[in-house]
Amino acid sequence: MPVGRGPYFLTFAASKHPRAELLCEMLLQASSRQVRMTHLYDAFRMDATHLLTIVCVIDVYIVNSSNCLCQKSLVYKRSSPVDNLLMDTQPNPHQFTRDAWEANAEVWDARMGDEGNDFFNILCWPALVSFLDPQLGQHVLDIACGNGLTSRRLATLRAKVTAFDFSANLIEKAKTRENPNSLISYHVVDATDEQQLLSLGEQTFDSALSNMALFDMADIETLFRILPGLLKPGGIFVFSLTHPCFNNSSSMHVMEEFDDGEIKTVYSVKISRYMTPYSAKGLALRNQPKPQMYFERPLQYYLNLGFQNGFVLDGFEERSFPPDYPQTFPLGWGGKFSEIPPALIVRFRKV
Ligand SMILES: C[S@@+](CC[C@H](N)C(=O)[O-])C[C@H]1O[C@@H](n2cnc3c(N)ncnc32)[C@H](O)[C@@H]1O
Repeated sequence: MPVGRGPYFLTFAASKHPRAELLCEMLLQASSRQVRMTHLYDAFRMDATHLLTIVCVIDVYIVNSSNCLCQKSLVYKRSSPVDNLLMDTQPNPHQFTRDAWEANAEVWDARMGDEGNDFFNILCWPALVSFLDPQLGQHVLDIACGNGLTSRRLATLRAKVTAFDFSANLIEKAKTRENPNSLISYHVVDATDEQQLLSLGEQTFDSALSNMALFDMADIETLFRILPGLLKPGGIFVFSLTHPCFNNSSSMHVMEEFDDGEIKTVYSVKISRYMTPYSAKGLALRNQPKPQMYFERPLQYYLNLGFQNGFVLDGFEERSFPPDYPQTFPLGWGGKFSEIPPALIVRFRKV
């Protein structure tokens, strides 16, 4: 294997590789021309379960060593395409992801608590609340409410909230937290089940919200078909998504450094799958015990499903971190990617 000067290319499954961040830091900090591939190779070899990753490093290095454009290129893979292919064959992805959310309920509740994380507070909530604009006494349906984070925010604003999730464990967690003004009622309901959805009450809700959950659902066609009937005339449906174009299971975060007389660094996102819906294993939180499924769909899938079921689009916002937002991880979402939105918020109105 070639060792020594030249361009370096490292690829890894960061979410699964305990050494990934360390190696990334190592490359960033090292004088780039001194990093020896043998050192990286040894570091990877210490973890035999990531043999596939080792092969990737060697392959990519050899291919890339003839390309003198990049001096240093780090590629962050949220999950490997090989996993994606394997997961497409899951016999029951709905049950798989339900089991995962039951298993992850405790960690999710501990992490999101009442405060949420920056992804929620900076990217999602400001647009969600402005699109929903909840008025005193209005009745909001919180779809796939998790530990009730958004339900509590809405109840604090004096909206009446009916909240549901298919994870009994998460609903238990939600119930143990404060219930502002006693305005929230929680239910275990599966959004893929027509009868359970209908039991929430026809023409009952002024608005519906789903924060970061539609891509967690194996099927959203049932929900989109039933929801208009649960809403009052003119009712709205606001939802947020990890941006299907830039933040999906195939996304790779890339940092490239160029030397054309001065050193320039470019951060970008590379996408290899978008048009055809598929499912892939992934992590919502780095320390969750079980990966859940991500059900990836192109943006037109969501919009057309809304149009076909009697909604019109009357609000749309793509959200990114401001340029001065610090990177928590070298290639994680943050200010370095301020030109690329990891989240989007949609408002539909029933006509
Ligand atoms: C990323 S979490 C978001 C939770 C919550 N909306 C929040 O903002 O904190 C996704 C949620 O979707 C729920 N979920 C996934 N599929 C579901 C389904 N078919 N019916 C109801 N909830 C579902 C999961 O249990 C999980 O709580």
